[in-house]
Amino acid sequence: MTQTNITTLVDFYNLLLEAERAGVAVLGELISQTEDQRLQELLKKFLRDEGLNCRILVSLIHDLGLEPSKKTGDFADKVRALESLEEKAELLIRGQEWVTRKIREFRHLLPTGSHHLFLEAIKVQHEENVDAMKKD
Ligand SMILES: [Fe+2]
Repeated sequence: MTQTNITTLVDFYNLLLEAERAGVAVLGELISQTEDQRLQELLKKFLRDEGLNCRILVSLIHDLGLEPSKKTGDFADKVRALESLEEKAELLIRGQEWVTRKIREFRHLLPTGSHHLFLEAIKVQHEENVDAMKKD
């Protein structure tokens, strides 16, 4: 892999890492804002997924010999700014869809093997979560 490709890939991983971190922050808040048992279970599952994704992305960045970003994406503030739980849930769905789109967009840069497999797993997990949210 060229140094330019490694830098582009790590920038992409950091973008996702910051977004997943924002997901962790915002999901933790949303869980306490709903009484709906089914929604709560769903959000807890998403929270576990986002946390796992953060750990995967940190490992993949370390794997490339670089340091992961410590920032949290602005997605958390965008969700906080909305009034109703319905609006927040809508934005959550769009956020999940954004992740799947970004992974497809940057897929050509992924080294074969574990990097490719982990990112594919993150993509599938987000697709499943979007489907589950839309069923609600
Ligand atoms: Fe996510």
